[in-house]
Amino acid sequence: MALQFTIGKFQELYNTISKEIEAISHSNDVDYIKSKYLGRKGSLNNLFSEMAKIPPNEKKTFGQELNTLKNSLNTELENKVKTLKTSEAPILFDFSRPSLINTPGSRHLLSKTIAEISRIFETLGFNICEGPEIETTYYNFDGLNIPETHAARDFKDNFYLDDKLLLRSQTSTVQLRVMEQSEPPYRFVSPGRVYRPDAVDASHYFMFHQIEGVAVDKDVTFGDMKYVLRQFSEGFFGKDVKTRMRPHFFPFTEPSAEIDISCIICNGKGCPLCKHNGWLEVLGCGMIDPNVFSKVQVNTEKYSGFAFGLGVERIAMLKHGISDIRLFFENDARFLQQF
Ligand code: DAH
Repeated sequence: MALQFTIGKFQELYNTISKEIEAISHSNDVDYIKSKYLGRKGSLNNLFSEMAKIPPNEKKTFGQELNTLKNSLNTELENKVKTLKTSEAPILFDFSRPSLINTPGSRHLLSKTIAEISRIFETLGFNICEGPEIETTYYNFDGLNIPETHAARDFKDNFYLDDKLLLRSQTSTVQLRVMEQSEPPYRFVSPGRVYRPDAVDASHYFMFHQIEGVAVDKDVTFGDMKYVLRQFSEGFFGKDVKTRMRPHFFPFTEPSAEIDISCIICNGKGCPLCKHNGWLEVLGCGMIDPNVFSKVQVNTEKYSGFAFGLGVERIAMLKHGISDIRLFFENDARFLQQF
């Protein structure tokens, strides 16, 4: 380092200390060097106290040189601290924090619900399969007999990535993806995430889970569908639960229906959960529309089948008395640990 004033006889001392400063590799060591040389008991202070013994005509130079030495070393130390601080990673560990190791994680209620529903369908002979979350408008709409003008395709009701791609709004997409790959029979359920830009409130979220189901074979009837879905609702909600079907409309099934179960809180008598009508809507279903079969080259002379779709969050909320869908995604351990 270039010095502003000469330091005369202190040159050697300067060289020694300067080398030590240069060698510091961590900012924690700076204080040690500082107190060794520049602190109250440091060697420079001893030199200052020797001033008294210096002959009067040399005092001024001695003082100036010693001050120059001290200031230069201080500046070097400050610069060293700056360079070390910028290169050192912050210390992230707080060793006083309680260990995380003693709090093992567990399966999320939604994963458990999906597993429980899937198991019921597996015992009925259904396989489990999955489809992609980024879909084309063909699989999400056209292939499912949802016309170009249908309100469900609106830009503000879907997460479009461009005019042909979107985050799927339903798991019905998997119907087409499976059926186009092979000949019937098919019997599968397909759980997964779906996305809709709904305003978030106690019963809406911009992402949720559905399970789609499909059964296609020779002579599959509406009665088969009723049997399978009754098995599901009794298996999942309990034997005492009654089911009923209401006519409905879905573009990809004909005829279509919605299934309600008798309210699990009031047993059908009427309460706030069932809005005092005794029934809770749990899923949509129907016989697969011939227009869908024709897209995937399934011969409707030979085969028939049914499909259904249910919302996992809704069903878990009904079963466990959860009143706000947001609880699933906040991941507050106090909520999750209850299940
Ligand atoms: N995809 C429908 C929805 O998101 C649910 C549904 C209804 C699926 C009827 C089906 C079905 O397979 O047959 O609202």
